[in-house]
Amino acid sequence: MRVHSLGYLVVSSTDVAAWRTFGTDVLGLMPGRQDDERELWLRTDERCQRVVVEAADVDEVHAIGWELCNDLDLEGLLATFDEQGIAWERPDGLAARRGVEDLVRVTDPAGYVLEFFWGMQVDPSGFASPAGVSGFVTGRSGLGHVVLASAPFEESDAFYRRTLEFGLTDFAVMDGVRAHFLHTNQRHHSLALIGAPKDAWFVRGGLIHLMVQLNTLTDVGRALGRAEAAGCSFFETIGEHANDRMTSFYVNSPAGFPIEVGAGAIDIDPEGWTAVNLPAPDEWGHKILGAEQ
Ligand SMILES: [Fe+2]
Repeated sequence: MRVHSLGYLVVSSTDVAAWRTFGTDVLGLMPGRQDDERELWLRTDERCQRVVVEAADVDEVHAIGWELCNDLDLEGLLATFDEQGIAWERPDGLAARRGVEDLVRVTDPAGYVLEFFWGMQVDPSGFASPAGVSGFVTGRSGLGHVVLASAPFEESDAFYRRTLEFGLTDFAVMDGVRAHFLHTNQRHHSLALIGAPKDAWFVRGGLIHLMVQLNTLTDVGRALGRAEAAGCSFFETIGEHANDRMTSFYVNSPAGFPIEVGAGAIDIDPEGWTAVNLPAPDEWGHKILGAEQ
């Protein structure tokens, strides 16, 4: 695999304070060293940031950070981009602003800004959730997963699977829409591509969702209670996915797109995995509420 894992998400926000409250009180993320009205870092582990919220005049996903193991892997990726004529840039000072050693930017076929990086700083203060979450599953599995509105689907799929060498875990056609679930490590999927445009009804703030995985089902239940108590709106009720077997709920973030909060997902063996067709997305639950709100 060229890419190790999902590293971070960068969000543009008209209300950084709302993200601080939502991120810490509801999700249980820990504020990082950037914590003011212009920029907020939120942490799920020992890393200095996992979600970056930047003040802006729009509420939407700004960039998706993909982590590589080291400088040589990034060099190899850039050589591939050059061979394939894929444009990349290394914006001045951006690596330092993200707390990483080096970073390059690419735009994917659907228009998402990707930041490929290595060498993120560890925050010496350690990790303690302000809401008492026992912990987030990261490490070898990365931050979690993102689900993208990936029209044009064929081009997006070729970019992630042929150029970036993400592995196909499973696939489905749901209500006529194609979905590919892709892995870069033992996490069942770090990325899902949905063959829909960004103006589809289930896309808000440019993203379909971000998933973070908690250590235990008790953590998920407590997070659901905090979200209800805070008056959050939900995109889907709690349920269990058929593919990664995650039990999760979907709470709407201040950017509009939901955050899937779950636990209990299976790990896969990325070397020996064979792709399967899995047409039914859920074992139980996950009633969609988003269209009603
Ligand atoms: Fe998900």
